[in-house]
Amino acid sequence: MKIDFTFVPKHYAPRPHEKMKEVLMDPTGNGPSIHYYMIRGGVKQRNITVWEPGTISGEYIKTYGHYHVGDLDETYWIIFGQGVALQQKLAVDEKGNMIPDIVEEFKAKKVKQGDSVYMPSGYGHLVANVGITYFVTADDSPVNFDEKNAVSLPGHADYEPVKKMQGFAYYVVESNGKPALVKNKRYKEVRKEDFGGLPVIEGV
Ligand SMILES: [Fe+2]
Repeated sequence: MKIDFTFVPKHYAPRPHEKMKEVLMDPTGNGPSIHYYMIRGGVKQRNITVWEPGTISGEYIKTYGHYHVGDLDETYWIIFGQGVALQQKLAVDEKGNMIPDIVEEFKAKKVKQGDSVYMPSGYGHLVANVGITYFVTADDSPVNFDEKNAVSLPGHADYEPVKKMQGFAYYVVESNGKPALVKNKRYKEVRKEDFGGLPVIEGV
């Protein structure tokens, strides 16, 4: 077995509350100093993500969410805990550029230990931890260790449309102890929706 240890110091990256404020339903809400922890290994070694449990003003702790640049799919394997995976595909203009506030298709899916989620090319994705334990996944995203900012690894991820809209088309929130969805009203239109059996509520 030949493993290259060169990039080990670049493997770990935490996602702090300060950064997550950009995409929270309530950026003024009280949250943990770190929302999730990433250990980057890339395609072969895999990437591990660990989510803190909890909510910020009712919204479950989630990953920031991103779109892939170029034609790149990805699989998440759920190693531990309970989550809700969100996927959304934005509409594109005549030049093929994504329109940040028009969603072609939105999908929510409950996931738990043993499940896997396939993220097709073109679908932005994030996962929320809806359990009381850590939520842990492995994924097969490529990683470019030459990137200057370790938190932004992998370099193929586009966070801007998510930042611009302050999150995805729906927020995953706790309602009577269970996950539900609250619409992000900044989006102009969501053309096709599959809530995966989750209720949609007005707010928390
Ligand atoms: Fe991804």
